[in-house]
Amino acid sequence: MTEKILILDFGSQYTQLIARAVREANVYCEIIPYHKPVVADNSLKGIILSGSPFSVNEENAPAVNIASFIETLPVLGVCYGAQLTAKEFGGRVDKSNKREYGRAKLLKQKDDVLLENVTDHSQVWMSHSDSITVLPEGFELLATTDSIPIAAFKKNGNSSKALYGLQFHPEVYHSTEGKKIIHNFLVNICGCSQNWTPASFVNETVEQLKQQIGDAHVIMALSGGVDSTVAATLISKAIGGRLHGIFVDNGVLRKNEFESVLATYNKLGLNVTGIDAKQRFYTELSGKTDPEAKRKIIGKLFIDVFQEEAAKVEGVKFLGQGTIYPDVIESVSVHGPSVTIKSHHNVGGLPEKMHLQLVEPLRYLFKDEVRKVGLELGIPEEMIFRHPFPGPGLAIRILGEITEEKVKLLQEADHIYTQQLKQYDLYTKVWQAGAILLPVKSVGVMGDERTYEYTVALRAVTSVDGMTADWAHLPYEFLANISNEIINNVRGINRVVYDISSKPPATIEWE
Ligand code: XMP
Repeated sequence: MTEKILILDFGSQYTQLIARAVREANVYCEIIPYHKPVVADNSLKGIILSGSPFSVNEENAPAVNIASFIETLPVLGVCYGAQLTAKEFGGRVDKSNKREYGRAKLLKQKDDVLLENVTDHSQVWMSHSDSITVLPEGFELLATTDSIPIAAFKKNGNSSKALYGLQFHPEVYHSTEGKKIIHNFLVNICGCSQNWTPASFVNETVEQLKQQIGDAHVIMALSGGVDSTVAATLISKAIGGRLHGIFVDNGVLRKNEFESVLATYNKLGLNVTGIDAKQRFYTELSGKTDPEAKRKIIGKLFIDVFQEEAAKVEGVKFLGQGTIYPDVIESVSVHGPSVTIKSHHNVGGLPEKMHLQLVEPLRYLFKDEVRKVGLELGIPEEMIFRHPFPGPGLAIRILGEITEEKVKLLQEADHIYTQQLKQYDLYTKVWQAGAILLPVKSVGVMGDERTYEYTVALRAVTSVDGMTADWAHLPYEFLANISNEIINNVRGINRVVYDISSKPPATIEWE
């Protein structure tokens, strides 16, 4: 059975970082809203209480019964979690004279397994406006910082499991030895064996999928992206040819993408049918210029094509999906203890209509973990480290009306751009890149001839999650070269510009 840590979320912006840090230590964990019941089976090894934008002194401040947890499990409170611990056991939490944000130096007061191998004076990151001013009776101070008297503490006594509190955030990058502290909690205090690895995940998931699916059939839409490919490969390992993948050419994929992605699926041994629906998409898109209208047409037609294909497969009971953890984590609203659930990435409400059950083998993985599992499964690196590509594809990178001719032009320019980024070793340094075909023609001169052709805009951004992005500062030498390559090789384009807008206020895509 996989060992597990539960992270009770009180609404901190850093809660997911705690989960990432725990998993980096090869220990599986899940985040649940603080008010959900904690089910303590044998796999559960410990509990971490997250930070929160609330003050423990506010009326209706979120709380949990820590005393009952430590009857059976070790607990670590982080920031708000530490303040809640202090308050519940009879200590004092007061408003700080100044808000404590940013760097501080950790000053160790006592040796303890929680701070084992942590350097005295190491940097920790603070983000709180309350401070613990008096520790409860029977608690012991482990560390202060240069600005606060109580930065780390533990509860003494043999009658219960360990209880620790940290006023700072060990999970953030700027707490330079924070990962060590989390590791110490997991290993020294909870006794975790750190055996949750991509290989163990694959083995366990394949077993679970066999159980869940039995001898039924699964259909799944594949996009060539990382998530759907990894999910399909796991399902295929469990049920082989009873997974029926469907990959649709909607006419707005990248150059050669349909063929090359199908070839990769083939190599991976996946049972995938490629459907060439290009002309149907071009017909429906003809004359449409509004970005949202284009998106709707592509979304709806995709569902139609998928359903037609799915209807040809007998005995289908399940729909496979590449849903990942950030899509499904229940987050605690900071405006009150209500709970919001983000909508799934499911294909336009397909399961409801088709009466299928979902199979989502990546439901508990973060994106970087999906990549590691993908590599473990032998999926080529080129597929694993592909840039994100929007569902409506080149349709939202051809501004205005879409024609087959324009798609071909943009495919060529985009292909050259991608190849050159790879050649210059820049592809993996940018988060997403693509070419945009503008609906304007301008004058140029080639040889003795005057030209009147389209302009292509190049976009490349750095980002963490696509929510905010900066334009990538690509070298001038690269930009000079790519401009020549595109204009000399793509007839119909005589001008190349580079987009130097950040998000916000611009967006990554132009439509
Ligand atoms: P924006 O343009 O909103 O893009 O800054 C952020 C990220 O989302 C992708 N994107 C889409 N993905 N369907 C998708 O599947 C869409 O309609 C869509 N629009 C934008 C975009 O490529 C970027 O990664």
